[in-house]
Amino acid sequence: MSLFVDSQRVRFHKAIWADIPAMQELDARLFPPHSSYDMETFRNLMLDATVTMIVAQAGREMAGFMILRLGPGREASALTIDVAPSFQGHGVGSRLMALAERMARYQEIAVMYLQVSTNNSGAIRFYERLGYCRIRFMKGYYGGEEDGWEMEKKLIGHSGATTAGKDQPSLAP
Ligand SMILES: CC(C)(COP(=O)(O)OP(=O)(O)OC[C@H]1O[C@@H](n2cnc3c(N)ncnc32)[C@H](O)[C@@H]1OP(=O)(O)O)[C@@H](O)C(=O)NCCC(=O)NCCS
Repeated sequence: MSLFVDSQRVRFHKAIWADIPAMQELDARLFPPHSSYDMETFRNLMLDATVTMIVAQAGREMAGFMILRLGPGREASALTIDVAPSFQGHGVGSRLMALAERMARYQEIAVMYLQVSTNNSGAIRFYERLGYCRIRFMKGYYGGEEDGWEMEKKLIGHSGATTAGKDQPSLAP
């Protein structure tokens, strides 16, 4: 599974321990300290059996990643999504979200939730374009310094049928 950005091939894989320093570095570049993850948080997420991290890799460079929690029950959460500035606007983020949604559907998860800063209009537009709706305003959600929106997308229709194919996503670690 891959994508081309300016003739560079971007490949997608499940994160391994060696990916963590580059993930943490990218997160610290994209987010202020009150909303970025430190190394310990990344290590704990890596050890959490309910969490999957998907990396988009372009040669030696990390183009982006996303962190997904499957559960509890029939709910999933997109904990974060990061695309390196030079790769933004070329479909990497959309592909990461599509992979996450496919993994969730495969486990018969009905709804995906995520949180986004109310100041992050670019990301809100990105999520709305992918079918996410704002459902809750969260005052001071980011360390008391920024407010957030909770957003959701239904992954399974009223009939219980999935809204996309149920092929098992194959992402080599
Ligand atoms: C928000 C974010 C994850 C989006 O990722 P991305 O890779 O830039 O997203 P995509 O390229 O898939 O889509 C973004 C835009 O590119 C356009 N696009 C999609 N595929 C494209 C392609 N192949 N070529 C050119 N443009 C494309 C889309 O139309 C979209 O435009 P729009 O949102 O203005 O309508 C990314 O910008 C990012 O990491 N931002 C900083 C961190 C952040 O805010 N994360 C969210 C935290 S909640």
